[in-house]
Amino acid sequence: MRKVGIIGVGEYLPKKILTNQRLEKMVDTSDEWITTRTGIKERRLAAKNEATSDLAIQAARRAIKDARLKPQDIDLVIVATITPDSAFPSVACILQDALGIKNAACFDVSAACAGFVYAITIAQQFIACGSYKKALVVGAEVLSSVTDWKDRNTCVLFGDGAGAAVLAQVKSGGILATYLNSDGSKKELLMIYAGGSRMPISRKTLTNRLHYIKMQGNELFKLAVTLMAEVAQTVLKRAGLECKDIDLVIPHQANVRIIMAMAKKLGLPREKIYLNIEKYGNMSSASTATALVEAVKKGRIKKGDIVLLDAFGAGLVWGGCVIKW
Ligand code: ACO
Repeated sequence: MRKVGIIGVGEYLPKKILTNQRLEKMVDTSDEWITTRTGIKERRLAAKNEATSDLAIQAARRAIKDARLKPQDIDLVIVATITPDSAFPSVACILQDALGIKNAACFDVSAACAGFVYAITIAQQFIACGSYKKALVVGAEVLSSVTDWKDRNTCVLFGDGAGAAVLAQVKSGGILATYLNSDGSKKELLMIYAGGSRMPISRKTLTNRLHYIKMQGNELFKLAVTLMAEVAQTVLKRAGLECKDIDLVIPHQANVRIIMAMAKKLGLPREKIYLNIEKYGNMSSASTATALVEAVKKGRIKKGDIVLLDAFGAGLVWGGCVIKW
């Protein structure tokens, strides 16, 4: 099997900032509650004319340039998203057309907040076995389009953004191990009820606001801490490594308290955890993606470093990757 690594990264965050202070005027909440309960101070919102593919295109362009490739070098495009522009075509196909990528397999992956980790793992398998050579993997979301701006339980949490990575065969290092898992029996902890084939949008679903995210935050919180710790332990074992070998963890950014509880379980110090939740909130698949890109660009990840991507989300789904940079 070929060694596969990340050879370029790029991100795009919409310009519009929604602060906690602004949210105080929209729902019954406070900057103090949001900050202490979640770690979020502000989040980005896509412009009215920006869909998920628009964010994905910008991030993808930057990643391809960073990899010193041209769009025509890409032969596999995977977009992780739960907020596609429409049910079909896939965001990946829209992205392919916009970037002028020819002769590529393009599809979306629905794995919520673990979507980027799922997509990286899929791309790695395809390249390792020789089916494709250069993969563009994007995590992109416009969660503001499915957020109920009247529900204080959820609207303070989410944001919009995109992060991208280009994967290819590498001579040394690269992805050392991956781990994916899921438990569909807990699907109702976090879901959007209406808008699909089971409950098409109707006057009734609109009145009951069923086309927005519904979440049982408390239950998810406890599961997230356990599952993210399990991800780290399992994927590190697969890589033949231990927690002390990790240089930086890029966790899914749902809640700073979840992340720090997971770190405590694993005995990982704060400086080994990368956080960007304060600025962007939870961007689902785009959270781990943009955090990875930022960490690379800020020099927090250097050549030879061991990096752990660790995510969980609606489904439930969870997974991780250990990468030697
Ligand atoms: N402002 C003020 N008060 C609030 C707000 C708000 N924005 N939201 C909830 N409250 C209130 C509640 O109504 C409740 O009041 P009550 O005690 O009078 O009933 C109180 O605050 C406590 O509510 P809890 O839900 O117990 O608060 P908790 O400390 O659990 O924090 C939170 C809530 C932030 C949602 C947390 O549970 C969490 O982060 N859960 C995990 C979320 C997650 O990981 N999602 C999965 C990934 S997302 C994806 O896959 C797309």
